[in-house]
Amino acid sequence: MGATKNPLSQNKQSLVTRAKFLKAFLVRISFVRISSTTDRLPSPPLRLLLVRSIANNGAEGLDTIRAENIGGRYSASLSDGPSIIVKEPSETEICSYRGQTSSRPDTRVVNERSRSCPVARSTLKKPPGPPYSLFVHNLPDILPDFWAASRRLQKQYGPLVRLKFLGRKVYLLSDPELLSIILQEKDKRLPKQELGSEGIFLADGDSWAFSRRVLQTVFTGKAVSNFIPAFHRLGLEFLNEIEKEYKENRVVKLIRLSEKCMMEVICEIGLGIPSGLTELKREFKETFEWLSEEGIKRQTQLPLFKKIPTARNVKYAKMLEIMDRILGEIMSQPLTDDRTDLIALMARAIDPETGRKLTSREVKDQIFTILVAGHKTSALLLAWAIFEISQNPHVEKRIKAEMKKVLNLDGISMKAPDYHQLKELQYMDLVIKEVLRLHPPAQSGFRGLHETTVINDEWILDPCNIFYSVYDTHRNSKYWPEPEVFDPDRFLPENVAKHHPTQYIPFGGYSRTCLGNVFAITEVKIDLCLLYQKFDPRVSATHPIVEGNDMLFPPTDIPMNFTKRKQLLGQPRKEGEPDTPLMSSPFISIDKEETEEKVYTNKRRTVSQTARLMGMKEEMKTGMFHILYGSNTGTSKEFAYSTARKASELNIQYSVSSLDEYYDKYLASGQEVEDSHMMLIITSTWNGHPPDNAKKFKNWMMDCQKAGKRDAAKHMNFSVFGVGNSQWNITYLAFPKLVEDMLPSLGATQLSSYEPGDEDLDLQTKFEALQDILWYFFAIELGLLPGVDHKTLVKPARSHLDFIVVEGPKEQNEEGGQYAITEVRELQTEGSGRSTVHVEMALPADVKYEAGDHLEITAWNHPHLVDQMCKSLGYDSNTWLKAVSKSNLPIPSWCPLGPVRLGQILSRELDINGVITRPVIQAITEALSDQHPYKAKLQRYGGKTQEALEAYEKEIVKNGINVVELLSQLPDVKIPLGVLLGVLPTLKKRSYSISSSPKRDGSKLTLSVGQVFFTTATGREHSGVASVYLGRLQVGSKIECHVVTSPMRYPADHMTPVICVCNGTGLAPFRGFLQEREHIQQQHGTIGQLHLFFGCRSRKEDFIYAEELLDYEARGLVKLHVAFSRDQGEKVYVQNKMRQEEELIADILMKQNGRFYVCGDARTMAKDVQEELRRMIAKFSGSTAEEAKTKFVEMVQEERVVLDVWG
Ligand SMILES: Cc1cc2nc3c(=O)[nH]c(=O)nc-3n(C[C@H](O)[C@H](O)[C@H](O)COP(=O)(O)OP(=O)(O)OC[C@H]3O[C@@H](n4cnc5c(N)ncnc54)[C@H](O)[C@@H]3O)c2cc1C
Ligand code: HEM
Ligand SMILES: Cc1cc2nc3c(=O)[nH]c(=O)nc-3n(C[C@H](O)[C@H](O)[C@H](O)COP(=O)(O)O)c2cc1C
Repeated sequence: MGATKNPLSQNKQSLVTRAKFLKAFLVRISFVRISSTTDRLPSPPLRLLLVRSIANNGAEGLDTIRAENIGGRYSASLSDGPSIIVKEPSETEICSYRGQTSSRPDTRVVNERSRSCPVARSTLKKPPGPPYSLFVHNLPDILPDFWAASRRLQKQYGPLVRLKFLGRKVYLLSDPELLSIILQEKDKRLPKQELGSEGIFLADGDSWAFSRRVLQTVFTGKAVSNFIPAFHRLGLEFLNEIEKEYKENRVVKLIRLSEKCMMEVICEIGLGIPSGLTELKREFKETFEWLSEEGIKRQTQLPLFKKIPTARNVKYAKMLEIMDRILGEIMSQPLTDDRTDLIALMARAIDPETGRKLTSREVKDQIFTILVAGHKTSALLLAWAIFEISQNPHVEKRIKAEMKKVLNLDGISMKAPDYHQLKELQYMDLVIKEVLRLHPPAQSGFRGLHETTVINDEWILDPCNIFYSVYDTHRNSKYWPEPEVFDPDRFLPENVAKHHPTQYIPFGGYSRTCLGNVFAITEVKIDLCLLYQKFDPRVSATHPIVEGNDMLFPPTDIPMNFTKRKQLLGQPRKEGEPDTPLMSSPFISIDKEETEEKVYTNKRRTVSQTARLMGMKEEMKTGMFHILYGSNTGTSKEFAYSTARKASELNIQYSVSSLDEYYDKYLASGQEVEDSHMMLIITSTWNGHPPDNAKKFKNWMMDCQKAGKRDAAKHMNFSVFGVGNSQWNITYLAFPKLVEDMLPSLGATQLSSYEPGDEDLDLQTKFEALQDILWYFFAIELGLLPGVDHKTLVKPARSHLDFIVVEGPKEQNEEGGQYAITEVRELQTEGSGRSTVHVEMALPADVKYEAGDHLEITAWNHPHLVDQMCKSLGYDSNTWLKAVSKSNLPIPSWCPLGPVRLGQILSRELDINGVITRPVIQAITEALSDQHPYKAKLQRYGGKTQEALEAYEKEIVKNGINVVELLSQLPDVKIPLGVLLGVLPTLKKRSYSISSSPKRDGSKLTLSVGQVFFTTATGREHSGVASVYLGRLQVGSKIECHVVTSPMRYPADHMTPVICVCNGTGLAPFRGFLQEREHIQQQHGTIGQLHLFFGCRSRKEDFIYAEELLDYEARGLVKLHVAFSRDQGEKVYVQNKMRQEEELIADILMKQNGRFYVCGDARTMAKDVQEELRRMIAKFSGSTAEEAKTKFVEMVQEERVVLDVWG
């Protein structure tokens, strides 16, 4: 015989009994269902015995048994298990059993009367209630305020009151004894709702059990701790909103404002709506608010009424459709691994029992109900907490004292609690608990009974809904002495030990306990921590609170005054104590917790800088963020533009220009700048000097300093990101350092100091770190990016370009440039296996150069590579395109405004040959569908963790994978042109030392170019862009280039002795010097000595320009010291040759005031040569290694040692 589903319709002998078990086989409840009120029941003690016997027989976890009365004995059987026969127990058995159970909290259901072992009763009471009125039943009794009426009725009729309204029978209660039974019932049995019925909050039976199992895997402590950074940021937004509203109205409506801020929490943490989708977000907010308000009202409406097509019902149906569509749109966002919002967590969650995932319909239902469950409740908790703290000065004092201690507040910097500090804020915990007692945001709860049910041996209830009042339970004077008094100490552990388990139920109880309790408390604690550092909230005397008749949402809200503290909460640091950053970025607080994020660190800021920063926020609201660059080959400029793209995405007002353009606009006139400027300066150094477009700025700084203008830069609030290459070890980052040092001496304030980027090591990574810290600075410290979520902040700037296909011109004119090639020839011998080409070109008439200068080349990518790339993009290289900007950023200068051929863009504008960068990988990843097999793999390289960086280094950089190679792995994917072309780095110009002297022929110049060919680890044949471009030029072709001056200058005094050291094509400038010398010798007859230390592999293979050199030597123009590294058993390099001639070198350099030049490979040769030179200086001047180092630097500064090296 199975369990009877509809007992009232059948008159069966069987009794269907439901019992609950504790895990340890303890009997928990006496809760029996019977098929009919006329059935004879087993007595309560017998029922307990039945239950216990079954439990002892190993029926843990099964909660449905059948009990049949067979001749004075009861046979109990599990629905599909063995029967157990139990006889009616004796009085002694009953008493002893009760004695046992009454000492266990789990068996509290046994009430006082039955504990004294009365005779088993056969008459059970039906709960009393007011008589029914005709048609409307008890509606008049409960209007206008259901819960006020409930309180009155419970006073009149006792702890359990029967009511009927809207055709439904309900029972009301608020007594903890009864609640501890009722709350164990799992089902709610509410009528189906139009939205969210399958969501966990309303679901029953298997559907609820499945939801609960899945969602429990989502609401883990770990997940909540991951939300902490977002809570920090959103908490600061809450402060901003308070400030704004208070400024405007001199009063803040606290509940409404808290709800507004909690809505942001929903959008970001709940839904992960990207900040770019502002319209969708707005639509969601409106629809959500309307539906959740309306949903509450509809719960009290008759089902029939809801079906009539009134305007409101029609609107409701429409809004449901809109919500469904919005959630659909939100869920269509790519489910990337880095997403930690609730929707993403839910979509990934798996039921541990069945292995099933939520369908997208189910995710929609779940998210909606969860958001409804969490939104107003959290907002109310926050608002009531602020209210109660302000009403209880002693509580406020203790809270603040605890905050000062735990957060180490210094009165200067805002501190947000991290995970561990949150745990330490124990008094705040007590306060929050007491707030939840006095003002439980969920003031009531309900359960549903499917069958006629007896509870507590006393009451017999029809199938119905049971409503309980949390509010009344929490103010029951039997359990809470002086219930109206706000006293957090009630929750001290020693007091809690005395509580009845269900006298405090703000989050419900038993298996349906709120899943979001930790989430809500964490969030509110963070908000309180931030709030009390900055404000002293007080209830507004002029706007008294009127407790409305609806207690849940008091109509007059809670009006508060928010006095801004003169100084932040906390003790200023004493002299000598270290200063802390204004606020550790949440990203950085994650660093501490999760070591994998260690790549990102921030520097400290001084107290005065911090004070200045406070004013910045206001200024930035109306002002401009100036992004300034100093850049020769475009690296820093590109970083500046990438920053500008992101600023544009984040709706920050910005301007982007070179440092010299900034000088022209603001400084050249000498007038004082009135506004305050926030500036990010991104600049490189060239041979220790500023880049060309930063020279005026540098001169301005120097002039101001000389003139003692100590406040010339007082309007500047700046940070510097230095771009350099540590191969230039002496002048590494010289110019950014100079800016950082000089601007403060001219009155400027440095906001942050960012770690510089070393081209030789980590330039891109450091730039990414700068970006993260920068945007967090805007969001957290300046509080200027409301509604922008963590993911959006740390994502690299997206492309702002779109390309449309257009008609192209008939004629194509893509002429290279003005330098005409006159000769290209190989310099190495055939067997060498390598190649160095000599390229000669005729100069445009007006171009002049000096021996030692550089030529900057605009090279083109290899046509084969361009073809491959076009194929991957799905376009012919002859497709004509027009670029369109999707933001207020202009079309970048590399992209012609008119129609441009795709082949041209890919040939000469964008770098498709170099190792693919992480932003490009990220752009490609985003364009892949979630199902694409490569998506997860590619996502690994784009992350912000150490592991992601290492994966990128190991698998992408080490394998030399470029964008073409990567796309060739994705033949089925067509990445939109704009997405990719807008983030690819531009093709940088390459420098070459000119290997001729104009003294020989001023109309021509030559280059000596080592061809870069190698096979990557993946087996791809890689060729260098510019060297191979130059090598494949034909006589007559024209190229684009320009001459750049260099520090390599032959001494003005032709008698100055010279030492030149080089390897490979490092010979180039010295070939120019030799031509120069030939001319000088012809003119003057005499010339100083020149020693050339030249490193090659072998005399026969790469002794380039051998004939010329030997000829010069023969004519006394040079003394050669050639190191052929591979021509003998032992390797010999230039530094070894130098050592052989150490006395000569020391003499020339230190006694004869000669010059020492180095050119060529920076990574190996130049390093070793410098070391050797320092050793010699130490030896011949009798100084220590340290002193020799300083002497060496001085020689570089005096230009007696000149380095022109590349790596
Ligand atoms: C001031 C200055 C002067 C210069 N003068 C000269 C000169 O006179 N003559 C000259 O030849 N060069 C000179 N160079 C170097 C030149 O500018 C280029 O860097 C060089 O020609 C390579 O450019 P590319 O476009 O052909 O190669 P790219 O496409 O830039 O490829 C080169 C890159 O490929 C990688 N690579 C190279 N070989 C391998 C390998 N075997 N395995 C794995 N990866 C590898 C390295 O990362 C290297 O940076 C000079 C550089 C500077 C800064
Ligand atoms: C102060 C804030 C909150 C309070 C007072 C609160 C209170 C409650 C209460 C009383 C219940 C019903 C428990 C029962 O029926 O026994 C509940 C259920 C629930 N709450 Fe909360 N809640 C809060 C915040 C949140 C938040 C922020 C979330 C999620 C983000 C959330 C998610 C849920 C869910 C999923 C359930 C359904 C549990 C189930 O039926 O199994 N709650 N909450
Ligand atoms: C000829 C030359 C000289 C350089 N001198 C320095 C230097 O003195 N200090 C330094 O840190 N980096 C130096 N670098 C490295 C550049 O600063 C680096 O390549 C940077 O990325 C260039 O950025 P830009 O294109 O924005 O100017 C030099 C590079 C070259 C090619």
